[in-house]
Amino acid sequence: MSGEAARLGVDLYPHVKTHRTMEYAQLQIDSGARGLTVAKLSEAEAFIDGGFRELLMAYPIAGEAKIRRAVDLTSRAHLRLTVDSLEAASALSGAFAEVGRRAEVMLAVDTGSHREGLAPTDVPAFVRQLVMLPGIEFRGILTHEGHVYTVEDPAAREAVAHVVGDLMAQLAAELAEQGTPAEIVSTGTSPTATQAARPGVTEIRPGSYAFYDATHLRLGAVGIERCAVRVLATVVSHPAPDRALIDAGSKALGADVLRNWRDGDPWRHGIVIGRPGWDLYQLSEEHGWLRWIGGGTPTPLAIGETLQVLPVHVCAVFHIMGSSYAVEDARLVGHWSSQARDRSQ
Ligand SMILES: Cc1ncc(COP(=O)(O)O)c(C=O)c1O
Repeated sequence: MSGEAARLGVDLYPHVKTHRTMEYAQLQIDSGARGLTVAKLSEAEAFIDGGFRELLMAYPIAGEAKIRRAVDLTSRAHLRLTVDSLEAASALSGAFAEVGRRAEVMLAVDTGSHREGLAPTDVPAFVRQLVMLPGIEFRGILTHEGHVYTVEDPAAREAVAHVVGDLMAQLAAELAEQGTPAEIVSTGTSPTATQAARPGVTEIRPGSYAFYDATHLRLGAVGIERCAVRVLATVVSHPAPDRALIDAGSKALGADVLRNWRDGDPWRHGIVIGRPGWDLYQLSEEHGWLRWIGGGTPTPLAIGETLQVLPVHVCAVFHIMGSSYAVEDARLVGHWSSQARDRSQ
């Protein structure tokens, strides 16, 4: 991804909520990432404590206590903040002006996911007000085009990403025209990270690309060879030839269901690697439920055998498991704890 970012001339700010692990973040920086993206202030705190100094919190900040923490953190590292309301921006401005500084602020834009962010048509007028606030330094605009995950056809998904990137570039042009330039134009989500980086976009923030997962495989965004995360699970029960249980339930694999999963489709909760025909169709807290859908006589599993599961949502797995084994060329290179694992505040 860092090679692609360099080729496209954009800065890579990987979203480290995916792994919440200092060592992986360092690998990302070492391979060319310019800084790190976080969702929460407590994640920012953990990564700043871990020595990282270039961060973007791509999540709206609001509330007095959080703003006080942001004032403190921005004195220790270069941390951009995100707003999408005048209420939050005014409170932020007041707190920073009080200490004689300005908060570096990105404005969130809703380009179709309908989560946070201003409607694009409201952006120019909002920025005119934003730049009047004494404690704010307007740095740019960002969007999270998460709606691309709902588009199954790769060509249609690429077209959506182009619309997003072009819309952000167009907004930046309008902002420059009115004299309130957006120096940074930031997009980001893994399946379309490079496709949304249209001319005018300056920064991308993919997160799950660092490992990819069954969601990306199912979308056809990547092949299995790019999916780097596995949950190792043991077969603990095989009560019938066509049924078995593994010791990885929702407390290991997360509760996410494969996106676009439809009744009757396999792999609702993850893909059992190298065991075609065995479908991980249900999870309870501690159990993964396997059923045989391969036709003919089921391939037997051995009690005690280790299976590799490609999870549905890699970010949830890191958060739940709290540590990971890093393997390179079949060699163990690290056993790393996700130090920012409990940082969701
Ligand atoms: C604001 C923001 N930026 C970037 C990302 C990274 O997206 P992905 O996990 O698709 O790489 C996310 C993911 O939720 C996000 O919310």
